[in-house]
Amino acid sequence: PIEGSLRPQTLDEYIGQEKTKKNLKIYIKAARQRGDALDHVLFYGPPGLGKTTLAGIIANEMGVHMKVTSGPAIEKPGEMAAILNNLQEGDVLFIDEIHRLNRQVEEVLYPAMEDYAIDIMIGKGATARSIRLDLPQFTLVGATTRAGLLTAPLRDRFGVVHRLEFYNVSELKTIIIRSAEVLGVEIDEKGAEEMARRSRGTPRLANRLLKRVRDFAQVKYDGRITEEVANFALNLLEVDRYGLDQADRTILTTVIVKFQGGPVGLDTLAASIGEDAGTLEDVYEPYLIQNGFLSRTPRGRIATELAYHHLGIAQP
Ligand code: ADE
Repeated sequence: PIEGSLRPQTLDEYIGQEKTKKNLKIYIKAARQRGDALDHVLFYGPPGLGKTTLAGIIANEMGVHMKVTSGPAIEKPGEMAAILNNLQEGDVLFIDEIHRLNRQVEEVLYPAMEDYAIDIMIGKGATARSIRLDLPQFTLVGATTRAGLLTAPLRDRFGVVHRLEFYNVSELKTIIIRSAEVLGVEIDEKGAEEMARRSRGTPRLANRLLKRVRDFAQVKYDGRITEEVANFALNLLEVDRYGLDQADRTILTTVIVKFQGGPVGLDTLAASIGEDAGTLEDVYEPYLIQNGFLSRTPRGRIATELAYHHLGIAQP
């Protein structure tokens, strides 16, 4: 099966994000009853939690097409205007990494989102004037890992804003079993549970690991994913018992070894691992903090007892 087929197509098939799902169901039903386009939706949160999948589901449940683009892909206001002008009534326009739109491109979106219109400049200098071009009603679905980077005028134009959360082990286990079924690979309860524990709260990672573990199961075992197979494969893939990957371990090791366990400021920590501070904060830290490996204090980040214990480093 193709990669995309692991994505659920309807809200009922979608596992987890219960609060988001419950709200979307109501907004979709209400918009459909009125014959309106759904209001604009912003999803934010760490990568791999289902932002793109939910955009596709919204389009599917609204019975419209989805156009997909991303912040960095649109360089000029004219390109944005062309995309908007090509939409059909009710369509979903999905803009991934929406925080990366440049200012002039973003400004095209303001009247588009608010009034379903774009303003086009005609002529130059003293005789320049703008004409307003009407657009079909549409739904902008924006996604970002960096909600803090959105400008206020853009953020304020989304009627629906949802933060996606990490998935718990039970939800991930259900997703893995569902994906295994789609892929036609046999997996037992314990195998699925072990994979779920190690998937860092992230369905995208769970599905990626599933494909790799399937390869090991096929070549080194009898094709069936058991706890033993999952453990064997995940150890080789350097995903640890808590689902931490190499990047996570580098962050924790740096805090512990270079900064004596902290506190260390975000910028200092980011510089010392060669990562952008915002990315560290919005992409890497949430899982580590939520799972008690790192804590945020007024004086900076500190490694917790769990972090020392997990990395096998004695705590001073
Ligand atoms: N595949 C990836 N994410 C999923 C989810 N949230 N529910 C069901 N299947 C998925």
